[in-house]
Amino acid sequence: MSSDIDTKTILKDLTLEEKIGQLQQLASPFYSAKARGEITGPLSELGITQEAIWQSGSVLGVNSAEEASEIQRKYIEKSRHKIPLLFMADIIHGYRTIFPIPLAIGSSWNPENAKCCGEVSGKEAALSGIHVTFAPMVDLVRDPRWGRVMESTGEDPYLNSIFAEAFVEGFQGDMTDPYNIIACVKHFAAYGAGEAGREYNTVDMSDRHLREYYLPAYKAAIEAGVKMVMTSFNTVHGVPASGSSYLMRDILREEWGFDGVVISDWGAIGEMIPHGVAANSEEVAQKAIEAGVDIEMMTSHYVLSLKQLVEEGKVSESLIDEAVLRVLNLKKELGLFENPYRAIDQSKAERAYVCNEHRKAVREVASESMVLLKNEQVLPLNKEQKIAIIGPLGDRNDILGPWSWKGRKEETVTLKEGIAHKVGETRVTFAKGCGIIGDDQLGFEEAKQVALAADVVILALGEASNMSGEGGSRAFITLPGIQEDLAKEILALGKPTVVVLFNGRPLEITRLSQIAPAILEAWFPGTEGGNAIADVLYGDVNPVGRLPISFPYTVGQIPVYYNCYNTGRPKLSETEYMRYVSHFLDSPNKPLYPFGYGLGYTTFEYTDFQLSATSMKRIETLVATVKVKNTGSVAGTETVQFYIRDLVGSTVRPLKELKGYKQVTLIPEEEVEVTLEITEEMLKFHNMKCEFVAEAGRFEAMVGTNSESLEVIEFELV
Ligand code: BGC
Repeated sequence: MSSDIDTKTILKDLTLEEKIGQLQQLASPFYSAKARGEITGPLSELGITQEAIWQSGSVLGVNSAEEASEIQRKYIEKSRHKIPLLFMADIIHGYRTIFPIPLAIGSSWNPENAKCCGEVSGKEAALSGIHVTFAPMVDLVRDPRWGRVMESTGEDPYLNSIFAEAFVEGFQGDMTDPYNIIACVKHFAAYGAGEAGREYNTVDMSDRHLREYYLPAYKAAIEAGVKMVMTSFNTVHGVPASGSSYLMRDILREEWGFDGVVISDWGAIGEMIPHGVAANSEEVAQKAIEAGVDIEMMTSHYVLSLKQLVEEGKVSESLIDEAVLRVLNLKKELGLFENPYRAIDQSKAERAYVCNEHRKAVREVASESMVLLKNEQVLPLNKEQKIAIIGPLGDRNDILGPWSWKGRKEETVTLKEGIAHKVGETRVTFAKGCGIIGDDQLGFEEAKQVALAADVVILALGEASNMSGEGGSRAFITLPGIQEDLAKEILALGKPTVVVLFNGRPLEITRLSQIAPAILEAWFPGTEGGNAIADVLYGDVNPVGRLPISFPYTVGQIPVYYNCYNTGRPKLSETEYMRYVSHFLDSPNKPLYPFGYGLGYTTFEYTDFQLSATSMKRIETLVATVKVKNTGSVAGTETVQFYIRDLVGSTVRPLKELKGYKQVTLIPEEEVEVTLEITEEMLKFHNMKCEFVAEAGRFEAMVGTNSESLEVIEFELV
């Protein structure tokens, strides 16, 4: 949206306090009747005045279109320059109509699904008065103990980059549509690498590793035009990210040319005090503004300290001016100076929430996001069979995931409801068996009787929503409570049984995988979860999902990820024991299910893998081709995955790296040729000087159905 407003002129006319106000973000309760009346609670904790509240530039987490309108109206009335407020919120995988969690969306390997999530949730949010969403989170994650793995798209820089771009496109579009909202890529940087998967924990890694694995997805979001970046809570190279000018000035602004707004994470500026790099409010404010944080979220060190720091000559006012200008420009870009209410419309919003069109969209995305992990002739189910649904997740509507702030459980389709919609209620029976947590086995007997009376059993197991997400790290990532005991007893009955898992992370399910004949990973599937699962179980949708993250064999292997280095003593054999190799005495090195893994209801055969030449010059490309045929009896989609390994580098190189993939949908007997153009760019990496270069030498090109089952051909870069 273009606008004639001259933000530089506005800036010139602002007092220092007014400028600093633009850099403060407060939650909506600060503007509620209560907060306006008495200075208590959060208000008094922040230690700021009523005047400062009405000078703050943005609001976090407004509850409805009506509330946003009311706050905006009052605010503008009070604002000397009629500068509108920005409203921001966490619209992560849906506003009211909830998509599956991002880890699930990533499992579809289809970026159109991320785009669709951005568009649908962006529209519902825009109608509700939101201008900016704190999404996408593109943090690379190798540790499923970390609760926020659910909010990521997994362990691979290439896949994460594709999804980062697609989410940004979905939310922001070209910003000409009033239903487009600003995206904010987070958490910059490497928040997903916290030690032991423990929330908010230390991150320390080489610069080379940071650039090779962790930075690409943020960079992809910047290249896709994201207009905001959020800092992370963790340290990087010994400095909390919110005070790191290396991250925000050197990399983000100078190297990548980002000219949008940087916001701190919630309270992260103040957290530099417990981190131990600053002693007080003045020091954290100075560090953050110098590092390049424009907006402070939910602490008030800028408001409390920046004015004095400028007056004492410790902080240059020009730093504040730069930050304020960026905030004003964002408001201008949203067209807020002309129309501070933008797309806000409570009644249109009510019509959009969970409307048929949005339900259809989330159902399709959810069904494409599920990963079939095992299937010994149980699936697809037959609509004539009598079904017993057993387990604590079987009729539970809390399957939206931990980031579904506005989603409503009562609008959510449970698994039992979804199956009943598909085959009719009379064919479906249900017994909970046990709780998600706890050790009460009283329900086991009833569950067994219900299972025995049916033709097929669906065992619905998993985590509660709040067992992942922020603050949701787990040290043990097995099924909670006595669910595995329930599973053992039910599976011992010998009925055809499929386990459906609801969870926000890869779980340790090694024992279960040995005894269950079929397992479907449904993640937290969102508002239409039950219907989408039924679509997959009955074969109306042939499962297409592939794991974007490894499922560990045991928690003790973590981190276990596919694109690791070889070591000097790699374990070469799974069968022959050798002590002095890089291995465990009591666990395989390999995960239970590798990156890229997933089954469907048909089979594909790969033949004739070829390269167009055995060597390439830098200016040339090589073409890899492979024939892929549907050798089964139903149509299906295969995700043809191409990996590359640099065999000898000046630094160690990963065993394989995903460099491209194609999804092909084939009917039985149909065969297609799938190609990948190998370019010099794909062979580049960060050398010891952190230069991004391709080194001449031998490489391997690989193709296959997942990161473990690959055919290999060597080639050379000359
Ligand atoms: C989270 C962010 C989120 C912010 C605002 C923080 O605690 O880390 O991801 O955007 O809160 O809700």
